[in-house]
Amino acid sequence: MSYADTALPVRLDRETATPLAVQLADALREAAAGGHLRGGDRLPSTRALAERLGVSRTVTSAAYEQLHAEGWIAGRHGSGTYVTTPPTRAATSVSAPGSLLAEAETAPMLDLTPGAPWAAGLDRAAWRRAWRAAADPDPLTRAHRAGLPEYRATVSEHLLRHRGLAAGSVLATGGTTAAVVELAAAVVRRGSVVAFEEPGYQRAVQAFRQAGITVVGVPVDEQGLRPDAIPAGARAVYCSPAHQYPMGSRMSAARRVQLVERARAEGMLVIEDDYDGELRFDVAPLPLLAALAPDVVVHLGTTSKILTPTLGAGWLVAPAEVADSVLAYRDLTGTRPSPAGQRVLVELARTGDLGRHLRKLRREMAERRSLLSAALSGAGIPLLGDDAGAHLVVPADTADAETHFLTAAERHGIRLDGLSRHFAGTPTAYGIALGYAGCSREALIAAVPTLVELFR
Ligand SMILES: Cc1ncc(COP(=O)(O)O)c(C=O)c1O
Repeated sequence: MSYADTALPVRLDRETATPLAVQLADALREAAAGGHLRGGDRLPSTRALAERLGVSRTVTSAAYEQLHAEGWIAGRHGSGTYVTTPPTRAATSVSAPGSLLAEAETAPMLDLTPGAPWAAGLDRAAWRRAWRAAADPDPLTRAHRAGLPEYRATVSEHLLRHRGLAAGSVLATGGTTAAVVELAAAVVRRGSVVAFEEPGYQRAVQAFRQAGITVVGVPVDEQGLRPDAIPAGARAVYCSPAHQYPMGSRMSAARRVQLVERARAEGMLVIEDDYDGELRFDVAPLPLLAALAPDVVVHLGTTSKILTPTLGAGWLVAPAEVADSVLAYRDLTGTRPSPAGQRVLVELARTGDLGRHLRKLRREMAERRSLLSAALSGAGIPLLGDDAGAHLVVPADTADAETHFLTAAERHGIRLDGLSRHFAGTPTAYGIALGYAGCSREALIAAVPTLVELFR
């Protein structure tokens, strides 16, 4: 006996051995692939569809869950279920027959490269609320060159509460990398030398080079950047002391003092990229460089890692003459940080949603880090950099070993990140920087046995 639905092209056959949920999922998938259902079409609720088809709700729920997992539909009970734009071939291949190898080649890659935020952890209702509230004020005719006053106040409060920094004056930026571009053009200037962590954040290296600045690598070890290795005459030194990118070390207190003392003595600026500054596990806080020496440190923060890089909102705390140069550069070039993301952050902070998200983020990352370190260390795999942040490092002895990790992981559908690509010069350390924020916890847990097998 078959059932037809007037609105949806679904026919169910109760006499075949194929379960009804599978038949329903197949029919809806075909309808979406064939264009009978289009991206954005709303599907009936599982209850309504079950009634129309004369099946139990378990059947419709199971079919929706399957299509949801495959990427054909989105949305949740209550707020409606919608057809998405068709997923890529890779996503549909999950249920396709074939060998394990074929499946690994076509299944969607699990991305464990560092730097992605835990965007899935954002409370969608809070996120929508903040954007709606951010749209309430009348449109501005001109963006403030230093950022919205309420944004600057929100960031000051955030820095005091979460980073122990009493910031005199905060400027809004479009994010850390955007701020580096401004600093390169307005403060460091063409022809100067910048000392840079090696390995380090290559986008910032490129931003300096594009501005005609010479970048000189300074080695890092388990205590972070080595101040004694900074070349004399450098105009500035760039570092990520909270969680060195990519090696994962935290700059020791002694090194912090040594660094700012040298900067003061030689008239260097220290650019502190507070990468992963909000995430620290079972270890004592260390003073920000900007707290130790606000006269020589330019502190850069971002919402990219705690919320999402799509907000395009960051901040800069700097000595007055540096801040003035950045503002003068903005006037000269007619550029301003966009206020949209600033307003969203203000709203998230005003409602307490930012605080709730940070607590949730810390808990989640602490759990992920524990499960990953326990599994890897338990199998005798050496680890670095797991005291803070959202990535840890599995060192390798040689370039070949790193390449083997990358290619073997890829065969298992896992994208990893090799340390060697983070060197501006010839690589001297190898291994994998393993990011654990960007994926779901379930996917991470499912990948652990493969990772253990791979690294052992
Ligand atoms: C070391 C480091 N600093 C800063 C950032 C963030 O920069 P932005 O604020 O431009 O997104 C990243 C992003 O990957 C990073 O790896």
